[in-house]
Amino acid sequence: MEFFIDTGNLEEIKESYRWGIIDGVTTNPSLVAKEGIDQRSLITSISEIVDGPISAEVISTDAPGMLKEAYELAEIHKNVVIKLPMTKEGMVACHELSQKDIKTNITLVFSANQALLAAKNGATYVSPFIGRLDDIGQTGVQLIAEIKDIFDNYAFQTKILAASIRHVDHLKSCALVGADVATIPYKVLNQLFMHPLTTSGLEQFLKDHANSLK
Ligand code: E4P
Repeated sequence: MEFFIDTGNLEEIKESYRWGIIDGVTTNPSLVAKEGIDQRSLITSISEIVDGPISAEVISTDAPGMLKEAYELAEIHKNVVIKLPMTKEGMVACHELSQKDIKTNITLVFSANQALLAAKNGATYVSPFIGRLDDIGQTGVQLIAEIKDIFDNYAFQTKILAASIRHVDHLKSCALVGADVATIPYKVLNQLFMHPLTTSGLEQFLKDHANSLK
């Protein structure tokens, strides 16, 4: 299972990349806006830190506009993945980019049928937003399981990128149903390391060691 960090914050990316568990980065227009720098500069800086897929999202809503942005973003670095919304126009752009071997990540996916459309158009990644489904009373991880079954039925190569992960149990559930990738916020990445018995056990080991030196 690959782990991406879901942020545009360079300090969070640098720190988590140091832990050895990060394979790539996802951004979106909201995350980029928080950083107060333009997307091109931000993606360039991220590509200098992380050697792995970096999703950069278009903001146009028509296919020609999306494609113009996509070609400009793809020029930044070979690791850039073009993030396109799950719309008809997004699918038109996805189809063209797939034919040109430019990697894509279809975002704002909330149904198995939407994921199927993205796979048919050769998307590299499909991003079901599980936290936002939970927010409206559905079970987000169930969508991941359905997409997994459908992709397995037809041997689609599109990777399932679990997004909108809000807590550590989301990650475990995604791993149990076989998501290929999870994109995880910095706060949740930190929480993954924690267990009270690890903390208390380590404290005791260090205390016993110190006492043995007296
Ligand atoms: C990932 O590609 C998305 O940008 C992100 O996971 C959305 O998460 P949110 O629903 O917490 O905003």
